[in-house]
Amino acid sequence: MSSPHHIVVIVGSLRKESFSLKVANALAKLAPSSLKLEVVTPHGISFFNQDLEANPPADWLAFREKIQKSDGVLFVTPEYNRAIPGVLKNAIDVASRPYGKSSFIGKPTGIVSNSPGPLGGVNAAKALQHILPGISGTIMGQPETYLNAVGDAFDEKGNLIKESLQKVLQQYIDAFAVFVGKQSA
Ligand SMILES: Cc1cc2nc3c(=O)[nH]c(=O)nc-3n(C[C@H](O)[C@H](O)[C@H](O)COP(=O)(O)O)c2cc1C
Repeated sequence: MSSPHHIVVIVGSLRKESFSLKVANALAKLAPSSLKLEVVTPHGISFFNQDLEANPPADWLAFREKIQKSDGVLFVTPEYNRAIPGVLKNAIDVASRPYGKSSFIGKPTGIVSNSPGPLGGVNAAKALQHILPGISGTIMGQPETYLNAVGDAFDEKGNLIKESLQKVLQQYIDAFAVFVGKQSA
C-alpha cells in the first residue's frame, strides 16, 4: 500500500479552546487511512512585510516549506466580522509569496468553516474562495461544509460528542480523501 497523503490542516484561530482547532482535531481522527492530517495553527508566523522578502524570517520559511512538502491543504476556520481572521489571512499572505511561487500552488485544497452561531461561518468560507484561486491548487467544491452551532459539540477534553456533526465531518473527510486521491493521480 502507498503511504498516506500528508495534509496540512491550517486552523484560523489562535484560541486555546478554539472550536476550529477541535474540529480540525476531530477531522484528523476521522480521516481514512489514505490521509494523514497534520493540524497547524498560525502561532508564531510573523506579520507579512514585503521589505523582509529579500531575507525572510525563519518562521516564514518554515511555514512555506511545510506547505510545499504537503500533498494537500485543508483550511478550518471561524468567521470574524463576515470574513476570515487576520491571523489566517497573514498566514496565507506569507505562504503566497514570493510572487509566482505560492507554496499552495498545485495542492488539493479544502475549506471547512464553523461557528457557534447559526450561519456556520459561511462568509469565511466564501472569503477563502475569493482569496485562494489565484494562489492555490484546485479547491474541492462539494460537499460545501459550514458547521453551525458547534458550541455544544465537544466535551471538556475536546472530544467530539455531537453525533450529527460527526456524521458531517466523516462525509467531508471521506470526500476530501477521494478528491486528493484524484488530484494526485
Ligand atoms: C472579532 C470577532 C468577530 C466575530 N465575528 C463573527 C462573525 O462574523 N460570524 C460568526 O458567526 N461569528 C463571529 N464571531 C464569533 C466566533 O465565531 C466565535 O468567537 C468562535 O468561537 C471563534 O472561533 P474559534 O472558536 O475557532 O476561536 C466573532 C468573534 C470575534 C472575536
